[in-house]
Amino acid sequence: MQNIPHIPVLYREVVEAFSSIEEGIIIDCTMGYGGHSSMLLEANANIKLIAIDQDQTAIDFSSERLAKYGDRVSIRKGRFSNVIKEILQEVDISEIKGVLADIGVSSLQLDQKERGFSYESDNLDMRMDKGASLTAEVVVNEYSQAELEHILLEYGELRNYKKIASKIIQNRPFTSAKELSDTLKSDMPHGKKIHPATLLMQAIRIEVNDELGELHSLLDALKEAKLTQANIAIISFHSLEDRIVKQTFASWAKSCICPVEAFRCECGNDHALGKVLTRKPLMAKEDELKENVRSRSAKMRIFQMGKKYE
Ligand SMILES: C[S@@+](CC[C@H](N)C(=O)[O-])C[C@H]1O[C@@H](n2cnc3c(N)ncnc32)[C@H](O)[C@@H]1O
Repeated sequence: MQNIPHIPVLYREVVEAFSSIEEGIIIDCTMGYGGHSSMLLEANANIKLIAIDQDQTAIDFSSERLAKYGDRVSIRKGRFSNVIKEILQEVDISEIKGVLADIGVSSLQLDQKERGFSYESDNLDMRMDKGASLTAEVVVNEYSQAELEHILLEYGELRNYKKIASKIIQNRPFTSAKELSDTLKSDMPHGKKIHPATLLMQAIRIEVNDELGELHSLLDALKEAKLTQANIAIISFHSLEDRIVKQTFASWAKSCICPVEAFRCECGNDHALGKVLTRKPLMAKEDELKENVRSRSAKMRIFQMGKKYE
C-alpha cells in the first residue's frame, strides 16, 4: 500500500454519523485520499460507496487504495456540484442513505508546493482540478481592484482588503505565491497560530475553485432531491462555509415557511425536509488535535433528511 498522505479529520465522528445505516449507498463527495471512504466501507459490509473528486492525483491514489472493495465502490471524477446531479438522476434515491462532504484542500494538495496552495510555492496555481481554466495567476494578475477587494473581504475576511488589493495591483505581475506573500506579509494580520499570508491564500483558493459556489450547489441539489432517508454530513474548515451549512440546515428543518409578517400559517406547515442532528458542530477531541493539527478548524454538521424522521 502507498503511504497515506492525508489523515482524515473527525474520523470517529464520520463513522458514527452513518452508523445507523443498515444497507444502501453513501456518496463521498470529497474522496481525496480515500480515508473516510475506506473507513465507511470497513465499518459496514452492506454499504456501497460512490466517491467523487476533481483532482486526478486523488483519483489515481484512491482507485488503488479502494480497489480491494471491488464493485462496492464506484469512483467519479468531476466537481461534486455536477456529479451529484448526475448521480441523483442515475440511482434510485431511496437507496441513498448518506452523503459526506469534507470540503476544502487535502494535505497532499497543500504540501506539494508545485500545486501552488502554499504561500511558499514557486508558482501561482491553486487549481484542485489541473484541467480547470481559472488559476491563481489569472486572479492575482488580471482581476480588477474591485474584484480583488471582493474576494479579499468576502473569502479572506481581511479588514484592510482595499490596501492589500491596491498593493497587489501596484506590484504585479507576480509569478509565485512566495513572491506575493513576501510582498504583502507586512499588511497581513499576525495571528499566533497561522502564517500571516494564510487568509490571503485562502481567499484566492476559494475564488479559483469556486468553493462557496460548489457548496451552495451541492446543498441545492440535495434539497431538490428530497432524499427519503439519508444523513447528510458536511465538514467545513472556515466560518464562511460553516455559516452556509448551519443556515441551510436550519432552513431545511423549518416546517412553516410563511413570511415572518404573516398573522397565521397558510403554507400547510409541512415543509420540513428532516431534522438537524447537531445543534452545535462536532469538533476534534483532544487526542485527535494532538495527532492531526489540521483537525483544529474542522467542524461537522449533520442533517437527517427524510419525512420519516420528523
Ligand atoms: C479535505 S480533502 C478530503 C479528504 C478525504 N475525506 C480523505 O479522507 O482522504 C478534500 C478533497 O475534496 C476534493 N474537492 C474539493 N472540492 C471539490 C469539488 N467541488 N468537487 C470535487 N472534489 C472536490 C479535493 O480535490 C480534495 O481531494
